[in-house]
Amino acid sequence: MGGDTLNEDKRIDMTRAILVTGGAGYVGSHTVAYLLENMGNDLEIVVVDNLINSYRKPGQKKPESLRIIEDMTGKTIHFYNCDIRDVQAMHRVFQNHLIECVIHFAALKAVGESVTKPLEYYQANVSGTCTLFEVMRDHGVHKLVYSSSCTVYGEPQRLPLDETHPTGAGLTNPYGRSKYFCEEIMKDLCASDKKWSVISLRYFNPVGAHPSGRIGEDPRGTPNNLMPYIAQVAVGRLEELQVFGSDYPTVDGTGVRDYVHVQDLAEGHAGALACFNKTEFTGFHAINLGTGTGYSVLQMVAAFEAASGKRVPWRVAARRAGDVAVNYADASLAARTLGWRARRTLADMCADTWRWQSTHPHGYAT
Ligand code: NAD
Ligand code: WQD
Repeated sequence: MGGDTLNEDKRIDMTRAILVTGGAGYVGSHTVAYLLENMGNDLEIVVVDNLINSYRKPGQKKPESLRIIEDMTGKTIHFYNCDIRDVQAMHRVFQNHLIECVIHFAALKAVGESVTKPLEYYQANVSGTCTLFEVMRDHGVHKLVYSSSCTVYGEPQRLPLDETHPTGAGLTNPYGRSKYFCEEIMKDLCASDKKWSVISLRYFNPVGAHPSGRIGEDPRGTPNNLMPYIAQVAVGRLEELQVFGSDYPTVDGTGVRDYVHVQDLAEGHAGALACFNKTEFTGFHAINLGTGTGYSVLQMVAAFEAASGKRVPWRVAARRAGDVAVNYADASLAARTLGWRARRTLADMCADTWRWQSTHPHGYAT
């Protein structure tokens, strides 16, 4: 294990801490930055990440995202290069810090890859999550914010998607099922012991980057998701965008999604943490994080061209297997319970993505 030295016997620091699994990744790093920028010095951030989908420069102890956040905030992040499935290592993290609650981002997330590697996905996402919960329970930690996904709703039976929409039916891939299974496990856990407080945040489509342009999304290989693909075309890394289907029953025939700025998501996590102080927040709560507005693929292309001043060549290709036509959130529960609303516009999402992409054409390795 790299990063902090583990102390087998005692906690090295008794400051209250938030454990962030997968905190070196895209949504995790923005949430860590937001928390450090906005919380007092009486709380510390501990990150566990196995770096399977994040970048560390040769010779560095910490992944680049966290190193930059430390530089931006002047604060220290306690980093453990370890896998959430490594029970002994996870126990030591809980021994070393006074963990109050956990934000659990760590997971594999490539939908297509999950179809060819289902065991790896269930191992990391479901088994890993169970291991984390066991270790939390053993250390008396029962507060959890979980990274869920609108994918748990499957094919929408009605729109907008609110939290009462059925979940689990018609899921087309192991990734989506792993998120659904974890939600079911968390419900069982909360039913078994009233001490648990779990907020499962169902993200719609996270995009954008920190307004500084210093941290952002850094996919390995060719991006699977629309926004990083468009950004890489705009910066000249990729030739053209393939638009997956132009015959959907939408405004222009292309798929419609609810894109939400990653900085808004970060604020949503802070809102969820604040809820743990309220007694009504024991048990399991699923909450959508989206804007409530959908944009088509071609609307995204136009908005990105406007923000970047670059052309984004595209051509129509076949529909992608498993895609739905339209997907957007009813985000009113988040407003009522977390006091959260997505504040950033599509223009903000594109401008911030472009600031990151244009200054880091090859991501953190640039
Ligand atoms: P990401 O891949 O950028 O971040 C995940 C991080 O977890 C990575 O740094 C990776 O190295 C780490 N990780 C993976 N498996 C691990 C393990 N077994 N042990 C320790 N660390 C591990 O992904 P992201 O986009 O930031 O997504 C974060 C979470 O949000 C995931 O749970 C994902 O399923 C969920 N989510 C993401 C999206 C999206 O489109 N980005 C949408 C909905 C939900
Ligand atoms: C958006 C739109 C595509 C790429 C995925 C996961 C979901 C969640 C969010 C984690 C669709 C179209 C895309 C391209 C295109 N992740 N598109 N050309 O499919 O809504 O959701 O990420 O939980 O589980 O499934 O997002 O960004 O892949 O696609 O035309 O090269 O862009 O068909 O209409 P999606 P996406």
